[in-house]
Amino acid sequence: MGGMQADRLIKHLKPAAMSACANAHAPYSRFPVGAALITDSDAVHAGCNVENASFGLTLCAERNALAQAVAQGVRPGHARAMLIYTPGDVVHSPCGACRQVMHELLNENAVVISCCDTDESRTWAMQNLIPDPFEF
Ligand code: THU
Repeated sequence: MGGMQADRLIKHLKPAAMSACANAHAPYSRFPVGAALITDSDAVHAGCNVENASFGLTLCAERNALAQAVAQGVRPGHARAMLIYTPGDVVHSPCGACRQVMHELLNENAVVISCCDTDESRTWAMQNLIPDPFEF
């Protein structure tokens, strides 16, 4: 997985993830997150985290972005990359629940990138994020 490809994806997806992040509903954690994915036909779908006073109902940005894509007709396996953005100078990894959902909806060869407000980023192959996913 080349750094070149990641750089192009960051340029393309980071603005969308940042806009979604600005709409995050995160009054409890004060930890806004944005996520954006790109489909095989180059459509971009984004989401933010949506918290709730009943804390366990919180929806992560990654799963929100995936749900937005599904609602717009994106079929499972037809997104080739997802980018996560968190404000600040620390790059964060996606949570386990989101990894399971990404596994089912992203392409098996998809890449997942996390970035923040610095030039630092991390890139994973989806396959390496969840080695033994639940399947039904
Ligand atoms: N969160 C995400 O949106 N994505 C993750 O991968 C991990 C955590 C959100 C959930 C909650 O609103 C806040 O970050 C703190 O956990």
